[in-house]
Amino acid sequence: MGVPVTDPYHRGSQDIQPHRYPAPLDALEVALTDDVLVVHGGTPLEGRIRVRGAKNLVSKAMVAALLGDSPSRLYDLPKIRDVEVVRGLLGVHGVKVTDGDEDGALVLDPANVESASTDQINVHAGSSRIPILFCGPLLHRLGHAFIPDLGGCHIGPRPIDFHLQALREFGATVDKQPEGLHLSAPNGLHGTKFALPYPSVGATEQVLLTAVMAEGVTELRNAAVEPEIVDLICVLQKMGAIIKVHTDRVIEIQGVPKLHGYSHRPIPDRIEAASWAAAALATRGHVEVLGAEQADMMTFLNIFRSVGGEYEVTDARPPRLNDPGQEGGIRFWHPGGELKSVALETDVHPGFMTDWQQPLVVALTQARGLSIVHETVYEQRLGYTEALNSMGANIQIYRDCLGGTPCRFGRRDFKHSAVIAGPSKLHAADLVIPDLRAGFSHLIAALAAEGTSRVYGVDLINRGYEDFEAKLADLGAHVERP
Ligand code: EPZ
Repeated sequence: MGVPVTDPYHRGSQDIQPHRYPAPLDALEVALTDDVLVVHGGTPLEGRIRVRGAKNLVSKAMVAALLGDSPSRLYDLPKIRDVEVVRGLLGVHGVKVTDGDEDGALVLDPANVESASTDQINVHAGSSRIPILFCGPLLHRLGHAFIPDLGGCHIGPRPIDFHLQALREFGATVDKQPEGLHLSAPNGLHGTKFALPYPSVGATEQVLLTAVMAEGVTELRNAAVEPEIVDLICVLQKMGAIIKVHTDRVIEIQGVPKLHGYSHRPIPDRIEAASWAAAALATRGHVEVLGAEQADMMTFLNIFRSVGGEYEVTDARPPRLNDPGQEGGIRFWHPGGELKSVALETDVHPGFMTDWQQPLVVALTQARGLSIVHETVYEQRLGYTEALNSMGANIQIYRDCLGGTPCRFGRRDFKHSAVIAGPSKLHAADLVIPDLRAGFSHLIAALAAEGTSRVYGVDLINRGYEDFEAKLADLGAHVERP
């Protein structure tokens, strides 16, 4: 019998079971759940919101602070659950994390890094995927590390074999135990030449956070080059690291014996920005996303325009005498009339992000014709479409690689392509949020639908969207807690 996929350390395609999306709540569960948002749909979202530092950068930058010998300062952090989890985990390892001198700023002081007990660490078990990135920094600082069972969104098996393989290449020993991973580096960590089987974001970050202080030179091939990774490289460079990004996904890191603290203002959250853009399109609204950065969203903007959405980029203007300046951003709107169907496939950067897919699909239910979405990053990230179908959408999912180049999942038993026939009139429904991005898409669908929907499990959205309820209110959405 195969090892169940709940073992996050196991890899083996034959053991990957189909991921189950939550079934609709039964009456009793509904009565007992207070984590619910009542959404009166059918009103266009109109107004302006602001996005802060990217969730998928700030958490990693916080981990990087462990490597310094002086305090780091990180600005514009969103108030989201993932930041709290990393803060807690740094805290049990002796990093003093305090609020900085402006809203959203943190000071991370690693002067007294110390071992934490398994019990202290396990408090954070199952809450995020970031703990796996503590491996390299803790091995450098303490010579050993314990990593609890990982959490994060349930969007497929999400193995960590690339991470462990890379750590072993550096000279770490990995002991898998039921309670988590015990790592040590009896002979220190040494630079290595390593090629990733797939340009994994997390595994690239693992290599960066380990190689910067490993002895000698590391060459990573087939690395991920997402803007969040480039920003992490900027953080590490500010700390004293020597990192060269070559063409063709090759990153070369020259290990240094010592790093110091950094001061960094992160890139804005391009996933959150695209989520609000998709919400504007699906509700026939008009939303200005302050802080959104055109360069990081080019692929999204091309698709947004192809579907028939309009946008305008506002450049930032620095403050001058008698001029308070202006924050840059992007205005997204539905210009009226019908949206057009598109074919797209998700991919690693500079492709269309997998995390943009779910919010945009809601808007695609309103486009005339057949849209095709080929998900090539995660094998089981389309199950949420069932909930959209229960609201009147017409989405079929397929095992074949539709509308694009064949991907890793083509010959395996995963429904990873979707055909969306539109336009469909969406009606209200009771929905249960399955994961972060699919959850936001449920919310958009409820906002776009006629009638009153109840969206259960909305607290999950706080993992990655700061103050989303306040932002909904600012955009004129009719939502309430019962
Ligand atoms: C990061 O996850 C993000 N999470 C994800 O965002 C994002 O969807 C993903 O990158 C892709 O952009 C964070 O940054 C915290 P990967 P990560 O390693 O690093 C396979 C969100 O909602 N793989 O690039 O875990 C893996 O199964 C989240 O904000 C292995 O096979 O993603 C997947 O198919 C969801 N073995 C592919 O690589 C490994 O050891 C890409 O995963 C590692 C990954």
